[in-house]
Amino acid sequence: MYFSLPTEYREAGIDELKERIADARTRLGTRLCILTHHYQRMEIVEFGDHVGDSYGLSKIAAEQKNVEYIVFCGVHFMAEAADILSDPSKKVYLPNPLAGCPMADMAEMSDVLSAWDYLGQFGGVEHITPISYMNTTAGLKAFTGRNGGLICTSSNAAAALKWAFDQREKIFFFPDQHLGRNTALKYGIKPEEIALWDYSRDDGGLSSEQLEQARIILWKGHCHVHTNFTAGQVAEVRSEHPDVKIVVHPECPNEVVELADASGSTRFIVDYCQNAPSGSTIAIGTEINLINRMAKTYPDKTIFELSGNICPVCANMYRTTLNDLAFTLENLEQIKPIKVVDPTRSEALLALEKMLEIH
Ligand code: 13P
Ligand code: SF4
Repeated sequence: MYFSLPTEYREAGIDELKERIADARTRLGTRLCILTHHYQRMEIVEFGDHVGDSYGLSKIAAEQKNVEYIVFCGVHFMAEAADILSDPSKKVYLPNPLAGCPMADMAEMSDVLSAWDYLGQFGGVEHITPISYMNTTAGLKAFTGRNGGLICTSSNAAAALKWAFDQREKIFFFPDQHLGRNTALKYGIKPEEIALWDYSRDDGGLSSEQLEQARIILWKGHCHVHTNFTAGQVAEVRSEHPDVKIVVHPECPNEVVELADASGSTRFIVDYCQNAPSGSTIAIGTEINLINRMAKTYPDKTIFELSGNICPVCANMYRTTLNDLAFTLENLEQIKPIKVVDPTRSEALLALEKMLEIH
């Protein structure tokens, strides 16, 4: 996709952009709601009516009654979910249309459908509940809804797993292997009952025995931001800061999650920083913009990034700039909103509504 902002917006200075955004917000008043994900740049979060994680923001989108425009400063799958969950009369915008998610791109519809067909040979798909992480296209959310599954985010993954096992004996979890593995191990699934479906190999690279034994089949996807964190970094931080508390996102590899003091969703990490006593030292394994904001919000605590040197930025979240936001707010009627149409919309809605219910 090619996308380029008009020169006027590319060349405007920060003060002018902030003024134009503030004016547009005033002009649009209660017709507008700006949602900002925790990984957005600080200056974008400052303009949000709400800041939250993917679960929290979907819920807020679903609750919007009187607004006409929802501007979602996040990545594409989040804006799609907001569109599906909100009343069809609302228009949802993604200020930078190039903001995608490489992990979501690791699960392509055709690959997932052939995996599902293949898995059906082992006792039938009626024994498998699909769980799709929020980080997927609307098409895959529809696949999940159609097949009796649900959407999870890092904040309801444990409840989603429990619900799914209450329905059927096996789970097909995609696309994040790490969230899937961390949640399954916490639930008490044994490592030998977890199979990893490698979509680049025939039959997922798995033997019939492995698939028969598996209680959960994980898609071999990952987040390139969270898989930068290592057990070595945990050891190093602990030796340099004996009093440190380490908190990480469950998209991190299991050895990191195991060694951390706590792991949980973005919302969990935010609450952890807020609730830690003054004077605490906290090292965080997640996206850098959130960490920097936590450090600024709680100057009485020493909050820093776990790796020390990799700068774990989500380049896609970082794409959204004040320039994009100003352009979007000033041209709402000229820009194409994010629209998911039926039957994808109604099938995906089934799985998203289940997510809101199971928490
Ligand atoms: P949250 O569900 O915690 O908002 O995370 C989304 C995400 O993309 C994490 O990398
Ligand atoms: Fe996707 Fe990772 Fe960015 Fe989250 S942090 S949006 S999973 S690339």
